Amino acid sequence: MKLARSFMLGAALALSSTPVLANSYLNTNVAFTQQADQSQADTIVILVPADTESLDLGGLERNTREHIERVMELQSFTGSAGSILEVVGPVSSSADRIILLGVGDLSEVSRADNEKTGAALAAHLTDKSSQVFVDTSLINAASNPALNIAQIAHGIDLRNYRFDAYKSEPADRPQHNFTWSATEQAEGEYNRLVALAEGVFLARELVNIPPSESAPIAFIEKVRYLEDMGLSITVLGPDEVRDMNMGALYGVGQASKDGAHLLVLHWEGSDQAPLALVGKGNTFDTGGINVKSGAGMRTMKTDSAGGAAVVGAMKALAGQNASINVVGVVPLTQNMISRDSQLPSDVVMTGAGITVEINNTDAEGRLILADGLWYARSQYEPRAMVDIATLTGAKVGAVGTDYSAIFGDDEGVLAALRTAGETVDELVWQLPMHDNYMKSIRSEVADLINGGSPGASAGAMFLREFAGDTPWAHIDMAGNAMSSGGIHPGGANGYGVRLLTEWVYQYSASE
Ligand code: BES
Ligand code: ZN
Ligand code: ZN
Repeated sequence: MKLARSFMLGAALALSSTPVLANSYLNTNVAFTQQADQSQADTIVILVPADTESLDLGGLERNTREHIERVMELQSFTGSAGSILEVVGPVSSSADRIILLGVGDLSEVSRADNEKTGAALAAHLTDKSSQVFVDTSLINAASNPALNIAQIAHGIDLRNYRFDAYKSEPADRPQHNFTWSATEQAEGEYNRLVALAEGVFLARELVNIPPSESAPIAFIEKVRYLEDMGLSITVLGPDEVRDMNMGALYGVGQASKDGAHLLVLHWEGSDQAPLALVGKGNTFDTGGINVKSGAGMRTMKTDSAGGAAVVGAMKALAGQNASINVVGVVPLTQNMISRDSQLPSDVVMTGAGITVEINNTDAEGRLILADGLWYARSQYEPRAMVDIATLTGAKVGAVGTDYSAIFGDDEGVLAALRTAGETVDELVWQLPMHDNYMKSIRSEVADLINGGSPGASAGAMFLREFAGDTPWAHIDMAGNAMSSGGIHPGGANGYGVRLLTEWVYQYSASE
């Protein structure tokens, strides 16, 4: 459908034609069957393991088999993970195209490898394919074909997400019907991963949406439907935030239309004390009175990516019916400039009773997280807590965007984060915390000062003051929210959803 022309004219006029966003963003239809009827397929995908020397294509119809054997030899197709060879179906085949999809050596490939293999197929398929049959017979001897198949199918889903709600003519939304020759076990594994993918999609969506349409109140409205999945949702508005003395959170929001909010999602999957996830939900970062440059502001709609990751992880855990008690806390603000703006040298009171001098209004992330961490700790008494935030440019300089930076002194929390990072391929790298750094966050007029040092470690030291005695770690994901390639089609990538979800499982299992 064509969008109204006024839609193009800016936020004020756009409101009436703002696209309605879906609750599910799965673009592919997937079925699993143990009957090998391929007659309806226009495209047949054959999963080919790396050891092509001893490949037994005996299960295929003779013409097709000879055709494929010849092409494989001519093209030196080795079956390495993610490699693709497409051939036109022989006259005797009802399919128009046959795609060989290399899956590598299944005794060695990781979950991430499998996901990338699926993503490579998704990127290769065009709208010329509609009914896709995936023949898994060549990998059924592998040790866990069901898991490999599920992970490959999951990679297809992650890659096939499209953010096109604001295009007047959405062009390339993939619509493929997949039928996998696979067991019920593969289907079960896949369905767990669908729940995870839905969490990733929601996080991508919340960051992709234009910032004026995902300001705190709109952000909250966009996640309300999660109540239907059994999550309980609590929202504090600006007045309640102030009444609870969360002046650091309140102050960052005070120049914006919506003001500061605190969003809490609770999944009570067990009677044990909860794990807490706290995410920076600054829906746009102008820098405030310490205004950013144009270039520095360009990517700042990603400044709610930590909060989006927490919401996405909570959705995934609920979708997977996790038997773990988890609470997600998202302080929400829009760091704006107005006559009500907070000023450098202002002093705010925090929920923890610690006073903070504002050195730089652009160091707003640690302010809203300070109250978010205190709220999570004081209201829910979690047994461990992780926060995630696009916190510092210095982090990008230190470890780039292929890693996020982690900080903390609880080895159990950190170890589970490292394992989780490797499992889902959202890698983490630990940066130091040292008491000597305290001098950069001590104020002459208040207890602490924000932004006295631009360092990523200074940010972590500041946050530690608000984590109290709760086992805690901080993830600085600045610069990670937009990288594309592999399972990420472009735009926001939902970074952190898979990391946090996996951390919850890893940490629970390690205790
Ligand atoms: N949201 C930014 C951090 C950021 C920078 C995220 C680049 C993603 C990419 C944060 O609020 C910020 O502005 N931090 C300042 C802190 C400084 C003023 C102490 C920074 O890093 O420059
Ligand atoms: Zn900032
Ligand atoms: Zn920020």
